[in-house]
Amino acid sequence: MNIRIFLMTWLAMTVIVSCTEKPKRLSEKNQGLNIIPAPNNVQSSGTPSDISQLKIFLAVDMKSEYFTQLFGDNKNVSWVTQKEANVQYRSFPELEKEGYRLEIKKDSIIISASGKTGMQYGMVSLAQILAHHGFPLPQVVIEDSPKFGYRGMHLDVGRHFFSVGEVKKYLDYMAYYKFNNFHWHLTEDQGWRIEIKKYPKLQEVAAYRKETLIGHYNDEPQKYDGKRYGGFYTHEEVKDIVAYATARNINVIPEIEMPGHAQAALAAYPELGCENKKYEVATKWGVFEDVFCPNEVTFKFLEDVIDEVITLFPGKYIHIGGDECPKEAWKRSAFCQQLIKKENLKDEHGLQSYFIQRMEKYINSKGKQIIGWDEILEGGLAPNATVMSWRGIEGGIAAARQNHDVIMTPGTHCYFDHYQSESPDEPLAIGGYTTVDKVYSWEPIPDSLAEDKRKYILGGQSNLWSEYIKEYSGVEYMVYARGMAMSEALWSRKKDYAAFLPRYISHNDYWKAKGANMAFHLYDLKPVVKAGEGKPVTISFVLPEGAEIQYSADKGQTKKMDLTNPLVLAQSGNYNFVAGKNGRMGKPFNLLFEQHLGTTATITLENEAAKQYSGNGPGSIINGIKGSDEKYGGTEWLGFDGLDAGGVLDFGKSSELNSISFRFFKGEGQWIYLPKSVEVFTSEDGKTFTSLKKVNDIKTDSKIAGINLDIKGAKARYLKFVASNYGMIPEGSQGAGHKAWLFVDEVVVN
Ligand code: ACM
Repeated sequence: MNIRIFLMTWLAMTVIVSCTEKPKRLSEKNQGLNIIPAPNNVQSSGTPSDISQLKIFLAVDMKSEYFTQLFGDNKNVSWVTQKEANVQYRSFPELEKEGYRLEIKKDSIIISASGKTGMQYGMVSLAQILAHHGFPLPQVVIEDSPKFGYRGMHLDVGRHFFSVGEVKKYLDYMAYYKFNNFHWHLTEDQGWRIEIKKYPKLQEVAAYRKETLIGHYNDEPQKYDGKRYGGFYTHEEVKDIVAYATARNINVIPEIEMPGHAQAALAAYPELGCENKKYEVATKWGVFEDVFCPNEVTFKFLEDVIDEVITLFPGKYIHIGGDECPKEAWKRSAFCQQLIKKENLKDEHGLQSYFIQRMEKYINSKGKQIIGWDEILEGGLAPNATVMSWRGIEGGIAAARQNHDVIMTPGTHCYFDHYQSESPDEPLAIGGYTTVDKVYSWEPIPDSLAEDKRKYILGGQSNLWSEYIKEYSGVEYMVYARGMAMSEALWSRKKDYAAFLPRYISHNDYWKAKGANMAFHLYDLKPVVKAGEGKPVTISFVLPEGAEIQYSADKGQTKKMDLTNPLVLAQSGNYNFVAGKNGRMGKPFNLLFEQHLGTTATITLENEAAKQYSGNGPGSIINGIKGSDEKYGGTEWLGFDGLDAGGVLDFGKSSELNSISFRFFKGEGQWIYLPKSVEVFTSEDGKTFTSLKKVNDIKTDSKIAGINLDIKGAKARYLKFVASNYGMIPEGSQGAGHKAWLFVDEVVVN
């Protein structure tokens, strides 16, 4: 230990000794300081500090425009010499790499860390205390370090392009919440966004599409805006962004997609495809058959691209995509079939693995490591690859079991392109339903992973795909609220959602005051509707502490809801609920309840709905409330992953039946297909069932297929239905090679 480090260490240790003796009161919950993500240890004496002005000395290696930006134009902050400063740094090599210690004393503030990142995080926490608590500052000692080393945020600039200034805003947001990896999704079917000097047509052709789909992919007929759209980042702009990120201790991971999502590159250089045809930059969303051909021209192209890319990105990772690569073109290609034989590969999945492994070898030879989406597991994992698990957690588990590093980013919790509220006036999104509390609850390490494999889970990441996000204000709307929850899921060792909420509100106000387009759904009502248990339907709501609900039925008198008991929905009607606290209100929640014979029945499902699409349990499909015409997420629709939707209703006594109707959701872009058939059966004993009616050939031109079966004259205590899953999605359709999803709501019996 040299004398400088010794002195620094001694100084920092002196601070620890002096402060660990003092604290009189512990405030583990970070209440009032409003720091997000919650620090791991907060000790407060409860006494205010005398400091009324932060006089900050920036040591030479800490000089950064970021810090001056961080504190903004706060009048109570000035930048001074070391002698005049009351905010000082201490180098403390024993602290963890990203850890820091922030001590606010009576008349001085000391931030200790082992390096630049920790120093920055200490400064960010101090800036947050200033912004969200203010003067007088409390005397406090914070000791903090992250739970996960990889805390990422992804941004798709392929579907929609965001300017250099907007990407920098994203990086500022990331730095404020201590994220440390920016996954920059730079190439897509709809646009190639990074300048590659050796291939000018990437800029001239691949960066622009002739028009863009209007509305949702599932809308029929599909319409286009007729406007040319595009853009790309020059080398200088990329360097500028990387430097900006580096100044915030954020590593930038460029993603160059291969072999799929390559249509824009093929439009510029058709020789990279397997077929002799004209390719076009894609104008709509989805997955496309036109992918890179694994020929020598392609490998040379991609190696040249990588050569330029690595001159721009100092970090160790290059993301090579690897997801959603249809194999049709390879199946049709004599060249690919020969290559499969020559290389002794099993099939086209083996060929994809050959592709990725060859590129990995090249990238490794340049001293870099690859990351790939979890499809890179299929056909054999490249030896040094890190796997990004997005189609759930299974890919991550499989990779960790093979001793590969993993970044968890399952769609269920990490996809910020999903809806975050059930409100019908939400901006158009791809689908799904991922709320702030759901993100907050996320644990990146799967329970089923053995203890000795857990070290391979490096951390997690939120993903923002931009099909439906045209402007940066849309990025703010989809990311800024849920990002706070994500930061805590990745950083904080002790999570507490109730304690998070006041901090979340304070931060929401902060961004709003800065003009950000914040989503705020805290008081939007999430109904818990109970049905299917042979009793009248009831409704209650999950609400943050202290919030109240007003409601009315059929525009009648408004009443305060008794939150101690669920409300019984005794008769059909139009109900209106609204919640709020301290004048801050959520969106009104309207509910049309239509009583039918099924609403008081008992239901048993043949197969369980997928966990993330299980509504409020099996009763959701007979509760008298129809799922949204537009979205399949939320608490009404039940989603079955590759399984039939079927069940038995017990009416309690033999009952006369007139009709039974079903609603199914169609969303082929999200792999949601209509059932092949629906059949209904009756029984008096619940054991022997007789088939009553069956329909095949279910079709619709809209998002909902409604089936109405006339069963007049039938009488039974039990009614069984089976909607048979579409099955394996065939080649040429969205989701080819995967099992179809089947969504149902509602089953109405009269
Ligand atoms: C992905 O969402 N296709 C990785």
